[in-house]
Amino acid sequence: MRKLITNIASLVGILDSSVKILAGANMNILASIENAWLLIEDGKIADFGKENIPESLDEIIDAEEGILMPAFCDSHTHLVYAGSREKEYEDKIKGLSYEEIAKRGGGILNSAELLHRTSEKELFNQSLVRAHEIMEFGTGAVEIKSGYGLSTIDEMKMLRVARRIGEETDLTVKTTFLGAHAFPEAYRLKRDEYVDLIINEMIPAVASEKLADYIDVFCDRGFFSVEQTSRILEAGLKYNMLPKIHANELDYSGGIQVGVKYGARSVDHLEFTGDEEIKALQRSQTMPTLLPGASLFLGMTYAPARKMIDAGLPVALASDYNPGSSPSGNMKLVMSLAMMQMRMMPAEVLNATTINSAYAMGVENSLGSVTRGKTANLIITKKIPGIGYLPYAYGSDLISKVILNGK
Ligand code: NIG
Ligand code: FE
Repeated sequence: MRKLITNIASLVGILDSSVKILAGANMNILASIENAWLLIEDGKIADFGKENIPESLDEIIDAEEGILMPAFCDSHTHLVYAGSREKEYEDKIKGLSYEEIAKRGGGILNSAELLHRTSEKELFNQSLVRAHEIMEFGTGAVEIKSGYGLSTIDEMKMLRVARRIGEETDLTVKTTFLGAHAFPEAYRLKRDEYVDLIINEMIPAVASEKLADYIDVFCDRGFFSVEQTSRILEAGLKYNMLPKIHANELDYSGGIQVGVKYGARSVDHLEFTGDEEIKALQRSQTMPTLLPGASLFLGMTYAPARKMIDAGLPVALASDYNPGSSPSGNMKLVMSLAMMQMRMMPAEVLNATTINSAYAMGVENSLGSVTRGKTANLIITKKIPGIGYLPYAYGSDLISKVILNGK
């Protein structure tokens, strides 16, 4: 099957296959070809260029002078959950903080309670709606965490649903076990016993069905300590679950350092990142991943993206799609927030939501850029003045077509 996309005003996000991430000043570079064509063969990007348009085609797609770019990789979501928590937002408006809501049994525990009462089938149906929604927003690959189960049975239920989303849609899905998302009420006064349960029961059970690619811990003030995080990450590594952790959202928690120590693929949130944390990241292969949707929704401070990039680091951006701190999986809005609130440049936000976020979820060899041989996951925009217009027009729907696996 040979499909040609023609009439492309600009083909952006072209990278050589040797490039796995873009860091520091390189993040502001976006290779492109004007008035281009792109050939898809058997679901892969076969070729692209300006002249010598290929022949013997099965299908021609007219880009109508839109921009062609790589589909988004959303490397941090909690897309599988039951119900929603808009009621809690009213408590927030009345003055309670995210931590105060959590302490009262709201927040994550609230979602866990509801998920427990929701059947696997119903959980799948609710999550599938969100999966289709993000595909329409241009996302082609998504990482999905558990963490609203907080018991072996319910964590596994979540992960099975996440895997099934990958099987039944064109989304590429990576799954992450996040049993260490919060302490269940029954363990409030014996937190280490919950950590024991995660290590001795949950991790082996999840591993026995190969349900998780990664392991996550919410390492932050009021949640899991550095010591508890270390124990959990060590246990996960024994089963080949690489760390990808929640760190430094609420405080300088030591989460970044412990993530780096255990070779995390990514450390995520990072609203509280200072010189020490930047130094630790500079010596690592860990992708700093920022979630500006959570900062917007919770009215929190934004992670210091500018400082990180100026220090030579790479940065990835993800949606954190979840019912409590970021009920949106719109990656175009994430780009806009990073530009408006974190002083990131248009090219930087594009690279942060494609190649760097692909690395953050371990799919950089097949996704995240316009590269010969990579899977044809592409977005065709409406006709716009240039790529910078995409994050600039933050409220406009500018995506005309989304192509996943060449379809
Ligand atoms: O990434 N910070 C921890 N976990 C989620 C929020 C989960 C929730 O409130 O339901 C986050 O922001
Ligand atoms: Fe999260």
